[in-house]
Amino acid sequence: MSFKPAITKFADLSVSDQDLVKGAWSAAKAAHAPYSKFYVGSVIEAQNKDGEVQRFSGCNIENASYGGAICAERTAAVKAVSEGFTKFLRISVVCATKPGGSPCGICRQFLREFGGLDLVVVSIQNEANDVCIWKFDDLLPDSFGPEALDF
Ligand code: THU
Repeated sequence: MSFKPAITKFADLSVSDQDLVKGAWSAAKAAHAPYSKFYVGSVIEAQNKDGEVQRFSGCNIENASYGGAICAERTAAVKAVSEGFTKFLRISVVCATKPGGSPCGICRQFLREFGGLDLVVVSIQNEANDVCIWKFDDLLPDSFGPEALDF
């Protein structure tokens, strides 16, 4: 059983969300995926301690030692966090080869650290350019986060 996200048309997204998705398509062009040939791109919109908001893109980067691969979402996430943008607001994910899918389990937990439950995930769902929008809590219900260690 899985939660069904809200599906909408790309054209019905706000311009800002459209840009978020377009950025992910662009990021997927840099994917290093010679083994899976599954090219993924992502953009994370994040805020720093001064309240500034910036976007960081990422692609999946595979390795001849297969376990060394990193997903597009985590590439974008480490870029954001390493620049001080630790509060994630929104993220887009697209797969250039096979539209659809959703962030993997490891990425969900990784994003949880910086997004809390307000994070919104936007992903291209199918060839018709439909887009699905998840609230983060639906992707990772009853999640374990930093506040659990705040004792
Ligand atoms: N991949 C991502 O980049 N994001 C996901 O959420 C799912 C999987 C990548 C990892 C690997 O390079 C390829 O897709 C096949 O699993």
